[in-house]
Amino acid sequence: MTHMPITMDNHWLPFTNNRLFHQEPQIFARAKGVRYWTPEGQEILDGSSGLFCSAAGHGRPEIAEAVHKQLMELDYTPHFQRAAPVSFELARRLAEILPEGIDRLFFGSSGSEAVDSAMKICLAYHRARGEAQRTRFVSRSWGYHGVNLGGTSLAGMVGNRRDFSGVTCDVVHMRHTWNEEQRFTRSQPEDGAHLADDLEDMCKTYGGETIAAVFVEPIAGSIGTIVPPKGYLQRLRQIADKYGILLVFDEVITGFGRTGSAFASQEFGVTPDVITMAKALTNGTIPMSAVAVKTEIQKTVIASVTADRPELMHGYTYSAHPVACAAALAALDIYRDEKLFERGKSLSDTFLDGVFGLRNLPQVYDLRGHGMMAGIQLTPGKAPGEKGSIVQRLLFKDGLHVKATGDALIFAPALVSEESDLEQMVDSLRRVLGRSDL
Ligand SMILES: Cc1ncc(COP(=O)(O)O)c(C=O)c1O
Repeated sequence: MTHMPITMDNHWLPFTNNRLFHQEPQIFARAKGVRYWTPEGQEILDGSSGLFCSAAGHGRPEIAEAVHKQLMELDYTPHFQRAAPVSFELARRLAEILPEGIDRLFFGSSGSEAVDSAMKICLAYHRARGEAQRTRFVSRSWGYHGVNLGGTSLAGMVGNRRDFSGVTCDVVHMRHTWNEEQRFTRSQPEDGAHLADDLEDMCKTYGGETIAAVFVEPIAGSIGTIVPPKGYLQRLRQIADKYGILLVFDEVITGFGRTGSAFASQEFGVTPDVITMAKALTNGTIPMSAVAVKTEIQKTVIASVTADRPELMHGYTYSAHPVACAAALAALDIYRDEKLFERGKSLSDTFLDGVFGLRNLPQVYDLRGHGMMAGIQLTPGKAPGEKGSIVQRLLFKDGLHVKATGDALIFAPALVSEESDLEQMVDSLRRVLGRSDL
């Protein structure tokens, strides 16, 4: 395949050092299954399902056909006072795999939109119950909740909020759950449930009656896969209930089989009030996200408005885009028909064996993981993030795409991976992380 020479100046890449990128571009031209190819034809194994999106692998014809069909039948419909059948069907299908009772769906186009929508829904719910004073949010240090203004406020990764304080809202942060003693723990650490008591401290300090919701990623993903200590999420649930605070699980990464169950909520046996999702919802093919809420939340908001006006003054031009809905339905069919969530669960041991086999390599400081997601913390480089950047570029040259955040790699292959694919990925990691000259 021939490719036109690329002029790169005009596209400002997100979350990228554009200067370095221009010197050493990393470009994907093609993808199939768990592999990418560069324009020059180099094969790159996909060790992060793109960006935790492509659970069923790339280039799925079922999704392409569903999208094409939908485009020809009904390419767009507004959803303000209008709708298309396909979004109702998608909401019904999602309700089937969500935890029982979380069955009302609000759609957007990105994880960031889902998070900001969830924040507004929480505020609307409290207002509808006569508790409009609940305007404060709690999240967690090292958390990532997207980049819109609500998500930026919730952000616990300092780099993502530090420069934007002019637009952030009232959020207080609990401590993260990682500590040195947990290093090399596979799955859930035994100790650390008490860290959920930070929420109780916040309630005492700020007044529980001022807090609308607490947002956490059940497994903190973007920071590098931090698995919750045993009992931690349960304890958060108890404290949230005690103070009437909504518990929101941001499952943008952990949704759709990544942890071994459909949602991390089911995996860890804790039912929140709200779940956000995106990424693998459409297998990453068409931008789409959703906020799933308990029946009671939606009913309360709807019941609070009797006048002829929208109950929730919020929505996007592309909310429930019919083409995205068609892509999501096709993805859900694949997940169901190929039993991909079960497949992820059964692959997990092999996957984590491979990851934890990297333990003694010179570049490895910590390993963490659960289900089909793992974090590889690198030994620190000269400046924070520098080692991560070097290692991800070396891995790319070696034929492996892995997402790096700071000095952590987030290794999360597709649920359709074969054991031989996982072996190849781990071999590549071993070659690069085994170097002592970095
Ligand atoms: C937990 C979580 N929430 C929200 C987001 C934001 O999603 P998006 O990049 O689609 O806006 C992400 C993205 O990685 C995420 O991991």
